[in-house]
Amino acid sequence: MRVRVFETPDLAGLYVATIMEQVVLSVTSPILGLATGSTVLPCYDAFCKLAHDGLDLTRTTTINLDEYVGLSPSHPQSYHYFMENHLFQRIRNWSGEKYIPNGIAEDLPEECKRYDEYIKRHPIDLQLLGIGTNGHIGFNEPSHSLLSTTHVVTLSEETIRSNSRFFDGIEDVPRQAITVGVQAILQAKQIVLVAFGEQKARAVADSISGTVRTDVPASMLQLHRDVTWVLDEASASYLNNGEVARTITE
Ligand code: GLP
Repeated sequence: MRVRVFETPDLAGLYVATIMEQVVLSVTSPILGLATGSTVLPCYDAFCKLAHDGLDLTRTTTINLDEYVGLSPSHPQSYHYFMENHLFQRIRNWSGEKYIPNGIAEDLPEECKRYDEYIKRHPIDLQLLGIGTNGHIGFNEPSHSLLSTTHVVTLSEETIRSNSRFFDGIEDVPRQAITVGVQAILQAKQIVLVAFGEQKARAVADSISGTVRTDVPASMLQLHRDVTWVLDEASASYLNNGEVARTITE
């Protein structure tokens, strides 16, 4: 596991975008596992710049981690909308396939099955992740057990509260979501988890330095052999007894 600590989210985002670029350049038909949330925005901004400067994405497929149940793709807080707005629409001629769970599917269990089958046929080269303040990845919430496959999840109170900042009110936050399971995440060839801000510091430290436990879902990443944590100083502040080092390899 590698831990990289940057002075600003913009520098961190540039670093992540160059990792994405390396994957796109080194694989014939690259598959990027993508995430949503405010944290990944600097990564997508920098990646869009690379695409404008000529990075060819015609053969690149994307597979997203999750979507709220009940939000249509045109809802401004849906993850479909987020991806269109912050990445897909900003890159001209990106014709590759783009997969996001359908949160308004009539048959949600069938939608989860379809998504899993798709992931099985399209192994992810690079999985980009954010992290919830409670340590969730995708929408795999802390629990006494974690599901391996794509499933419908009931969101925790902490996640609903935390994500309510994007909605008009807490009552507007969907109570359920579709998320890929930990298996899809851990099967990616390479994982990059990005976290910014002091509100993520506890989850980051518990995930990196604590024991592997299902009530800290991101601690599962300790089981993967190619994980890079990309942090700012605030999110790294509980690591190394508060001593911020620029690069930590464990
Ligand atoms: C949501 C997403 C997660 C994301 C998390 C963090 O809950 N399902 O995939 O990691 O938000 O969001 P933010 O980056 O806005 O803190």
